[in-house]
Amino acid sequence: MIRSAVVTGASSGIGRAAALALAESGWQVALIARREALLEALSEEIEARGGLAKSIVADLSNPEQCAGAIETARSRVGGTPSLVNAAGVARFANLAEDSPESVAAQIQINLVAPILCSRAILPWMAERGGGHILNVASVAGITPFAGASVYGSTKAGLLMFGKALAAEVRTQGIRVTTLVLGATDTELWDAQSFVPSRGDMLRPESVAAVIRDVLESPCDTSIDRIDLMPPKGIL
Ligand SMILES: NC(=O)c1ccc[n+]([C@@H]2O[C@H](COP(=O)([O-])OP(=O)(O)OC[C@H]3O[C@@H](n4cnc5c(N)ncnc54)[C@H](OP(=O)(O)O)[C@@H]3O)[C@@H](O)[C@H]2O)c1
Repeated sequence: MIRSAVVTGASSGIGRAAALALAESGWQVALIARREALLEALSEEIEARGGLAKSIVADLSNPEQCAGAIETARSRVGGTPSLVNAAGVARFANLAEDSPESVAAQIQINLVAPILCSRAILPWMAERGGGHILNVASVAGITPFAGASVYGSTKAGLLMFGKALAAEVRTQGIRVTTLVLGATDTELWDAQSFVPSRGDMLRPESVAAVIRDVLESPCDTSIDRIDLMPPKGIL
């Protein structure tokens, strides 16, 4: 049986690692992000190892591109689809110092885009009689951190979106999992003024292994939420 995974944010960090782990496990993968060269390099790496990967350049802050990217994925990979909503941005700042543009951009990419990508993929899943949506949320969505009021709000929203969507689609055999994730050593931290010890963070490869295991969990199980933290907890 062909299994395919549409992975947003596949050009770096957790999305990239998840795409690699899934491809290694035999999944066809559709790779979505803006940086074409990184997507192409990843696609070549996966195909050199015998996998199937298709890169799809899209700016998911644009609602039409969310729908277009999923439609393109549907034409390029086969089987029953899963969707990993990993694309995201974090601009940690006290609200008074954050710009309206930065606030809107975080909400758009972290919350609206996964909702629209999910909306766009549901007909494909319904047609195949199943599917799995995994949303990458954050410990900042369940814990109040100064400097993360906007980021945390987007992730809290994503958590509730996943719960409510699961209630809507579970009778169709479609599963929805929210990954509540702690600090992970990715590019996301490069531009932050406060960076916890990177050596104490989760590695993206470890997060990817959990994502792969969730998507490969038996179809008669539903993992609604996973809290995945580094061993030292909140850093
Ligand atoms: N790292 C952590 O500690 C941590 C903890 C909890 C949750 N998370 C969440 O994990 C997810 C992945 O983050 P990461 O840590 O892997 O960071 P990352 O390495 O910076 O990856 C972010 C990804 O999102 C994509 N992206 C950003 N804006 C986009 C846009 N407008 N259109 C399409 N793609 C876009 C980027 O691709 P392009 O730039 O090529 O478009 C990139 O592939 C995010 O949702 C983040 O909030 C991370």
